[in-house]
Amino acid sequence: MDKSIKIKIDGKGIIAKEGQTIVEAAEENGIYIPTLCHLKGIIPSGSCRICNVKVNGRFLTACTTKIHDGFEIENNSPEITELRKIIIETLFVSGNHYCPACEKSGNCILQALAYQYRIMIPRFPYIYEQREIDASSPKLILERNRCVLCKRCVRTIKTDDGKNYFAIEGRGHKARIILDEELAKTMTEEKAMKAMENCPVGCILKKETGFIKPIGERKYDKESISKVCVK
Ligand code: SF4
Ligand code: SF4
Ligand code: FES
Repeated sequence: MDKSIKIKIDGKGIIAKEGQTIVEAAEENGIYIPTLCHLKGIIPSGSCRICNVKVNGRFLTACTTKIHDGFEIENNSPEITELRKIIIETLFVSGNHYCPACEKSGNCILQALAYQYRIMIPRFPYIYEQREIDASSPKLILERNRCVLCKRCVRTIKTDDGKNYFAIEGRGHKARIILDEELAKTMTEEKAMKAMENCPVGCILKKETGFIKPIGERKYDKESISKVCVK
C-alpha cells in the first residue's frame, strides 16, 4: 500500500502519497498549481518555471519535486503570483502572439494562464523577433512565432523505434523547433494530431484542422484553467 505523507499547501493540510510530485499531490487534492512545460504522464523537465512554489522557504519547481513529510508549500502568495506573471509576460513579449487570429485560441495553455493571472499589458517591451514558419512537411505547420520551447513535442512524439521527430536547434534567442524532414514524410495522422495536442500553444498545427471547435466549445471557454485542470 502507498505510504501516506502529510503536507501543507497554503496552510491547508493534505494527505498525499509517497513518490508523488507536488503537482500530482496538489491536483489529487483539488489544488491548482500552473504547469506549462509539464505534461501529465511524462517525466517532468522543469524548464518553464511556471510551477514555482516555495517549499519551507525555498523556491522549487512543483512538477519535479517529490513530496516529503512536513513540507509547507506556498502556492498562492503575492510573491509567487508576481513571479508567475513575470514568466507569462516574458513568454508573450519574446514570441509573436496574436490570439484572436490563432488556431489554438481557447485551447492554449499560455493564453489561459494569461487570463488566470489577469495579464493586461506586459511590463517588458515586445521583441518582435521574426521567426520563419515551416509548412514544408505533409501534415504539420510549425508556427515558430508561438513556440515556448517547452520540448513537449521532442519528449513525447517519437517513431515506434524511439526516434525523435522534433528537436531544438540553436541556443538562446536563436533556438528554434525543427522537424525531421524525412521522418515527417512518414508521420501518421494520429501522431500528427498528438503533436498538435501536446503542444501547449499554437506552434504545431495539423494541416486542415485549424478552428475545428467553434467559440464557446473550446477547452478554456467556459472555465478558467485552474478549474479545468483539477477536475
Ligand atoms: S499560441 Fe496561445 S498565446 Fe499565442 S497567439 Fe495562440 S492562443 Fe495566443
Ligand atoms: S513546438 Fe510546441 S511543444 Fe514543441 S517546443 Fe514549441 S511550444 Fe513546445
Ligand atoms: S511546469 Fe514545472 S517547470 Fe514547467
